[in-house]
Amino acid sequence: MVAASTIEANGVSSTLARRTILTVDKNTPFCDTVLKIMESNMADDIVKFDKILNVLCPTDPTAQKFTEWYPEYYGVKQAIVRECNPNVIVEIGVRAGYSAYSFLSACPDAIYLGFDAENGTHGGAGGPFAPWAHKILKEAGFKYKIWAPFNTQEVLCLPVRGDFYHVDGDHTTDGCYHDIKMCFEDAMPGAYILIDDFDFLGDVRRAVNNFINEYSNASIPQYIKSKRGEMLIRKL
Ligand SMILES: C[S@@+](CC[C@H](N)C(=O)[O-])C[C@H]1O[C@@H](n2cnc3c(N)ncnc32)[C@H](O)[C@@H]1O
Repeated sequence: MVAASTIEANGVSSTLARRTILTVDKNTPFCDTVLKIMESNMADDIVKFDKILNVLCPTDPTAQKFTEWYPEYYGVKQAIVRECNPNVIVEIGVRAGYSAYSFLSACPDAIYLGFDAENGTHGGAGGPFAPWAHKILKEAGFKYKIWAPFNTQEVLCLPVRGDFYHVDGDHTTDGCYHDIKMCFEDAMPGAYILIDDFDFLGDVRRAVNNFINEYSNASIPQYIKSKRGEMLIRKL
């Protein structure tokens, strides 16, 4: 296991409140509002998060290419997290903190806990980006902690538990499957796992579909159409 250096700010300690166990019925609808918004022809106007453009890292080569679709891409993630309304958000794949910033802007009372290998893979080239993530989250006054470098492929359990997970780290089929399974198995019933790039990357789609098939009795999946396709899985 890699020893992680941590960046800690705004009073987050590693001892975190754990959410009460929820009993979730398989027929309980979830994320209905987001689905209705995405199906409506007003989706573009409703979900845009333009403020993301104010926090892009000036030395980030990717961000400068995608400014046109970032507001919608992160707006969809915001709409999802707003509806799930978590206490503790855990993310694998922090990068420059754009998704973290979007999540916390939508749920400012939540605690964010992020992990990133900072190894230049899967969108991490041009980094290290964790210092920038630290800067934008700290300046916004959010409660957060980032473990970087931290390779989630080298562990079987994260040191923290959340009630909303964003899996956006290793995008290989085996790597993504590992991260989903690890988060899911430690999470309490009722927790959500959001996986990025379902439409965009075949390897990620395979990982998600493998997981959904294997855990069909223990989870409910919900696909949300977006720029790259989001899959939201709820633990029963
Ligand atoms: C696509 S980027 C994440 C983007 C971020 N979620 C956002 O939307 O702002 C993927 C990140 O995962 C990280 N990563 C890749 N492999 C990893 C691993 N095994 N463990 C943890 N992080 C990893 C990379 O360093 C990169 O920063």
